[in-house]
Amino acid sequence: GVGRKAAALLASPPRASRLTARPFFSVAPAGCLVRELIDLMGTGRRVTRLVLHLLLVPQLTELDLSRCPKLVSKTIAEMVAHRCKNLSLLYLQGCSRIPSDALVDLIESLPGLKKLGLSETQCNTQVLSAIGSTCQYLCELDVSDCKRLSPESLFHLAYDVTAGSFSCQALQVLSVGGLESSARSQNLVRALAFVLLALPSLRFLENEFVSEAVYEIFRQQFKGAQIAPGFPSLEELVQRRMAMRTDKASSRLTLPLKELLEVDESSLPIVCTVCPHLTKATVLLDDGSALSPAFSSWHALSNLTLDCGRPRQLRELLSVTAIIGTQMQSLSIDGFVVKDESSFHVLLGHCPNLRKFSASIFLSLSCQSQKSTDWGAAFVPPRFSHLTEFTLSLSSLHTSTPSQPAPGLRANLTSVLKNSPGLESLVLLYLPFCLDGVFEKVLEPRGTALVHLRHLSLLQCKVSSSTIHLLLAADNQLDSIHLDKCPDIYRRDYDELLRRVSKEGFDLHIEWQ
Ligand SMILES: *[C@@H]1O[C@H](CO)[C@@H](O)[C@H](O)[C@H]1NC(C)=O
Ligand SMILES: *[C@@H]1O[C@H](CO)[C@@H](O)[C@H](O)[C@H]1NC(C)=O
Ligand SMILES: *[C@@H]1O[C@H](CO)[C@@H](O)[C@H](O)[C@H]1NC(C)=O
Repeated sequence: GVGRKAAALLASPPRASRLTARPFFSVAPAGCLVRELIDLMGTGRRVTRLVLHLLLVPQLTELDLSRCPKLVSKTIAEMVAHRCKNLSLLYLQGCSRIPSDALVDLIESLPGLKKLGLSETQCNTQVLSAIGSTCQYLCELDVSDCKRLSPESLFHLAYDVTAGSFSCQALQVLSVGGLESSARSQNLVRALAFVLLALPSLRFLENEFVSEAVYEIFRQQFKGAQIAPGFPSLEELVQRRMAMRTDKASSRLTLPLKELLEVDESSLPIVCTVCPHLTKATVLLDDGSALSPAFSSWHALSNLTLDCGRPRQLRELLSVTAIIGTQMQSLSIDGFVVKDESSFHVLLGHCPNLRKFSASIFLSLSCQSQKSTDWGAAFVPPRFSHLTEFTLSLSSLHTSTPSQPAPGLRANLTSVLKNSPGLESLVLLYLPFCLDGVFEKVLEPRGTALVHLRHLSLLQCKVSSSTIHLLLAADNQLDSIHLDKCPDIYRRDYDELLRRVSKEGFDLHIEWQ
């Protein structure tokens, strides 16, 4: 593809004369090729100002300068504005040398922009205002960590006071992290509510306080909320949204958000009511006694991250996964405690459609493996046909207790590895049992387990070098193995592995310390 062509071109040093001598600027996909060239050279720090001057051609439709931010001066910004009027994507993350007024001029010359990245730049209220009045097709905007922005700046993105009209109505993704340099402010929550109400296409608003803004929208008690003069009030925005809704029968205002990054468990019922279409969420669990029943009404949710503030029993989660487990594509759980081993097994059994699973679990097994509740008789080990990434960290809840052998978990891990034919990435951390037997069972001759495995990371796990040799000999796609702090791998084993890799010509990177 194009990437290969660009790479071949770069195999010799990119002298400007060579580049200009080639006729490829005039061919149709030149814009694409130029973008890849800048990407490639940016990574290798080979872009010089001269190269940039030569690469900024009118055919460009996508330009990513975030890899060489130091080179991007006011002059370069002016040159982009002057020459590359056809851009639909422009990434300037970290290009903090461009003054605000040059950013305004640049934006005003790019009416076709669909994606714009301005995080960590001198972007200020005037820049947002220019975006609002110029970029009517904009779908994605990143203005996080811009020190010159205040919560009030956001009004100007969504509403053009001079024209008296709404702007950026196609915007779907807006990142405004880092606006809250001080603590949470009522102004910020209000500005977020304004944006949520004024931008009808918004699917993802990235900021720590979005769920609070959703809460305000639910309560609709905006009395006394001061919006700067010239802007519609929050009440007016609610009325406009109610008039725009397609389902006139429903009396409730809902938002089309698809992702929410930080939801407190206590606000979950309200978030689910206002944002019924969420597909991806991170929920921070508090110390409540039972998991919120609101989880069960979350029909569109496919990607869920759960973080426990304090350790909670994994068993509690089973009532949730029993209902929404089959719709899970990605599940990440952090901070749960396993007291009886069967809960892990039941949890996985509830989620056969997972693509990505990540768990950081504490073990606190009782001496006698207690008889578990019957969650489903005659449990057949599920086949995880879609699973590509599996990460498991198991540590003791109390560092003083000796590690527990956990034979059930060991059997369950073996079963997952055997029954996930598409697995590409496997990361295991601090497992309390030896992995040699696990891999021996999984890699039995003529099996199809792990044939797609690319990345293996075993941090502080008991595994011997003969098992790693077994993996090298097996049929798979391994290109990186990390064995840091594995107590049974010694320097001589590592050297031996490296020798084998080089002797057999494997394209494989092994790390060990
Ligand atoms: C701008 O892009 C459009 C399609 O994206 C293309 O048809 C047009 O030729 C381009 N203009 C220039 C000057 O490259
Ligand atoms: C959910 O996770 C899967 C697997 O990682 C990913 O392919 C998919 O794009 C994610 N969906 C959303 C809405 O982020
Ligand atoms: C998983 O472990 C449980 C014990 O905790 C055991 O009953 C079950 O058979 C195991 N499942 C598989 C597939 O190994």
